[in-house]
Amino acid sequence: MEKQVVLITGANSGFGQLMALEFAKSEYIVIASMRDRNKGKQLIDTATKLGVISNIKITSLDITSAQSVENLTLMLQDIGQVDLLINNAGYAGGGFSEEIPIDEYQLQMETNFLGAIRVTQSVLPFMREKGSGMIINMSSISGKIGFPGLSPYVSSKFALEGWSESLRLELAPFSIPVILVEPGSFQTNIWTTGKKVTVKSTLSSSPYFSYMKQLDTYLQRNRIKDGDPMEVAKKVVAIAQTKHPRLRYVIGKGTRSTILLKNMLPWKWWEKIVLFILKSKYIKK
Ligand SMILES: NC(=O)c1ccc[n+]([C@@H]2O[C@H](COP(=O)([O-])OP(=O)(O)OC[C@H]3O[C@@H](n4cnc5c(N)ncnc54)[C@H](OP(=O)(O)O)[C@@H]3O)[C@@H](O)[C@H]2O)c1
Repeated sequence: MEKQVVLITGANSGFGQLMALEFAKSEYIVIASMRDRNKGKQLIDTATKLGVISNIKITSLDITSAQSVENLTLMLQDIGQVDLLINNAGYAGGGFSEEIPIDEYQLQMETNFLGAIRVTQSVLPFMREKGSGMIINMSSISGKIGFPGLSPYVSSKFALEGWSESLRLELAPFSIPVILVEPGSFQTNIWTTGKKVTVKSTLSSSPYFSYMKQLDTYLQRNRIKDGDPMEVAKKVVAIAQTKHPRLRYVIGKGTRSTILLKNMLPWKWWEKIVLFILKSKYIKK
């Protein structure tokens, strides 16, 4: 049987890197794309140690660049096949809405939302021609629940959710399922180097300075509760091998119950709970 080909964006770290290794171990051909190939060393070294390097092809891809995606399309024409696309690349833009420059919102949407669309448009013709395929979009609990200080990220993931629902219905006649993976908080770089907080909210002159600082302190303190990203990588491989996958997969301790609670409660009650937690834990002067 011919090997399945999976294209992963942002494969140099976090979920992307772990998924690349897990798929390679499962005998897929992995196109491990990253915007800076020099960051691929850890993936190459680990894949070599595991004896799966021959299943991995490192490729340059900046999902915000139309030219870079065009180059990807040319490369895919040579390979002639993509069975699975994982739109994983992204970062977490933060700050308080009043202070976030529009271009920071634009870059966030260009990456987490439009970047996924750009790559999907490049890959879809190959899937339709073959009459099969699968698209997995890496969403988040932030695609279901708004958080203060994180509105660029939350907006980009809400947009990804809406687009994925539409796309799922558009591609159903072609037997190409679209899946949303919704992790809670996991230990990757996204909360350190992958987090881009607007400068203004971090200055003491900002009216949001103490809110921001205490929010950050609370989040840092809770980081130890973050899940092991391997759980997500293994789950995505399992989803890829499911015959009739669902639209949504929630992953992580407490994530399902939090989303359920938010959906069940009237907004008024939800807001009271959130603000109670914020007041007591973050906004102590
Ligand atoms: N970790 C969590 O708690 C969590 C929870 C829910 C959802 N997620 C989602 O999971 C996905 C992966 O994040 P992660 O947690 O694994 O964080 P990560 O370790 O920071 O990985 C993010 C990856 O995206 C890449 N990337 C960013 N902008 C890019 C661009 N323009 N073109 C190509 N690649 C780009 C990064 O590359 P560079 O190294 O070059 O920046 C990096 O490889 C993201 O979509 C994130 O929103 C994460």
